[in-house]
Amino acid sequence: MHVELTEEQEMIRAMAREFADKEVRPIAAEIDRDARFPRETVRRMGALGLLGMTIPPAYGGSGADAVSYVVAMEEIAKACASHAVILSVNNSLYCEPVYKYGSEEQRQRLLVPFVTGEKIGCFALTEPQAGSDATNQTTLAVRAGDHYVVNGRKVFVTSGRESSAALVFCQTDRGQGHGGISVLIIESGTPGFLVPKVEEKLGLRASDTAEFLFEDCRVPVANRLGDEGLGIKIAMSSLDSGRIGIAAQALGIAAGAYELAVAYARERRSFGVPIGQHQMVQWMLADMATAIDAARLLTLRAAALKDAKKPFGTAAAMAKLFASETAMKATTDAIQVHGGYGYIKDFQVERYFRDAKITQIYEGTSQIQKLVIARSLLGGA
Ligand code: CAA
Repeated sequence: MHVELTEEQEMIRAMAREFADKEVRPIAAEIDRDARFPRETVRRMGALGLLGMTIPPAYGGSGADAVSYVVAMEEIAKACASHAVILSVNNSLYCEPVYKYGSEEQRQRLLVPFVTGEKIGCFALTEPQAGSDATNQTTLAVRAGDHYVVNGRKVFVTSGRESSAALVFCQTDRGQGHGGISVLIIESGTPGFLVPKVEEKLGLRASDTAEFLFEDCRVPVANRLGDEGLGIKIAMSSLDSGRIGIAAQALGIAAGAYELAVAYARERRSFGVPIGQHQMVQWMLADMATAIDAARLLTLRAAALKDAKKPFGTAAAMAKLFASETAMKATTDAIQVHGGYGYIKDFQVERYFRDAKITQIYEGTSQIQKLVIARSLLGGA
C-alpha cells in the first residue's frame, strides 16, 4: 500500500500539530487533573474544521478524506487523548451517520451546527445490560402520533453531558429483536431526557462520560434517523468508521508516550551515561517504535480502504485492536523508561498510561475486535 501522504494530507497534519502543540498540550495536564471539559479548545477545533472533517463543505465540513482524519487525530491524541475522543465521537459517531442517513432538513438542523463547533453530539448505544452485546437494546420508543415516547437508560455516553444532541438507539418494535432497533436524535433539554450521573474515571478525565435516563421523553418523529428498524445497521456501520478514529487516537497516545520516553532516555544518566545507551532501554524503545509504525500502517490502510469505498470493517477492527494493544504496551514501557519519575505526575507519561486503557475497551473491546476479525475470516462457518 502507498503510504506517502499527499500535500493536502501533510498540510492537515501540520495544522493539527501546530494547534495541538500551541493550544492543547499546554492545558492537557490541568484539564486531566481538574476533570474539566475543554469547551474553548473544542470550539477552536470546530473553527479549524476538525469537528466535521469528512463532511462536505456544503454542510460546513472540511470535505477531507479518512486518511486526513487519521493524521489529524494522531496529532491531537499525541497532545491530549481527551480532546481526541471528543473529536472522534463528534466526527465518526455523530456527524457521519447524520450526514449519511439524515434527510436534508435533518442535515441543516442537526448536522451543520455540530460541524462548526457551535454544538457537539454524542452516540448513546450502551445500556447497563447491553455492552458488547449491543444488539440487546431495551430502551423503548413507542410511537404516539407524530412523536415517540421514550423510556430507558443509557450508560457510558462519551461527551454525554456536554452534547446538544444524542443518537439514541431504541427498540421501536420489540418483537423484531435487533431488527426492531431504530435511531432517534434526542436533543438536550427535551423534557424527560435526564443526565443523572457523570462518571469519575481512571483516564480521559477531561472528556465527560454520562448516564442518560429517559422518562416518558417525547421525541418528534422528525428526529428519527433513517427508517424504523435500521438502527443496528447504523450503529454497526458507524462503529466501523469509529474504530478507525479510536485506532488513530490509540496510535497518538502511544506515539506521544514514546516521544517522551526517547527525550528522557537522551537526558537521564545512570552508570555514567545517558540511559538510552543501555541496551535494555534501547530494546524497549525499538519495540515501541516498531509497534507504533505497524499500528500507523494498519490505521492508514483502514482509512485508505474507506476512502477507496472498499469494505473496511475488518481492517478497522484490526487497526483498532493492534493500535490499542500497542498504546497500552508503549505507555507501560514509557513509564518503565522513566523509572520512578514515570510514576509521578510531573513527567506526564502516567496520564498517557491511564488514557491508553480505555482504547482496549470502548467502541468494542479487544475481544470483540477479535470476534469481528475471526467472523470475517471464517464467514458463515
Ligand atoms: N455494518 C452493518 N451492519 C452490520 C455490521 C456492520 N459492520 N455488523 C453487523 N451488522 C448487522 C448484521 O448484518 C445483523 O443484521 P441482520 O440480522 O439484519 O443481518 C446485525 O447487525 C446484528 O449483527 P450480528 O448478528 O452479527 O450480531 P451479534 O450480536 O452476533 O454481534 C457484535 C454483533 C459484533 C458483537 C456487535 O454487537 C458489536 O460490535 N459489539 C460491540 C459494541 C460496541 O462496539 N459498542 C461501542 C459503544 S459506543 C462507544 O464506545 C463510543 C465511545 O464511547 C467512544
